[in-house]
Amino acid sequence: MAQRAIYPGSFDPPTFGHLDIAERASGLFDELIVAVGTNSDKQPFLSVAHRIESLTECMAGLKNVQVSSFDGLLVDFAEAQGCQVIVRGLRAVSDFEYEFRVAMANRRLRPGIETLFLMSRDEHSFLASSVVREVARLGGDTSSFVPPVVEAMVREASRARQAR
Ligand code: PNS
Repeated sequence: MAQRAIYPGSFDPPTFGHLDIAERASGLFDELIVAVGTNSDKQPFLSVAHRIESLTECMAGLKNVQVSSFDGLLVDFAEAQGCQVIVRGLRAVSDFEYEFRVAMANRRLRPGIETLFLMSRDEHSFLASSVVREVARLGGDTSSFVPPVVEAMVREASRARQAR
């Protein structure tokens, strides 16, 4: 049976850190679904359509990766897509508490689905979508945090917010 994994996240916006985790995960499994989910604690910055569009462009060279989105519980979507593994990136100890709670809840809900953590590369260990949003909001250069396609979307979203 083909090993299929899911890499879920808000990806709002996708960063070089996310792309690195996706690329490394794609090398570990036969198929990988990069899935844009909604985090009910967070106000959206980029639309889900823009997140999917930019991720699809960035993943174009990875033939075993497809990009998708989901509403509701991650484990329901993962099961419906036939995924046996959930991949998450870990940057620092500060990520661990949240990730641990979510992984445990997901395991309680679907004991057959494993969560696998990949450590971020050290050059991405500080990188977070929230940092990118903040830098963009204050007119800073985000080119070392996100790929060009995302940078353009982030700039446009910041401009649209300021015009409101
Ligand atoms: O990039 P993020 O914001 O850390 O991603 C979080 C996400 C979207 C993967 C997570 O919030 C999620 O899985 N949401 C769907 C609802 C769910 O299944 N929550 C986990 C059970 S507590």
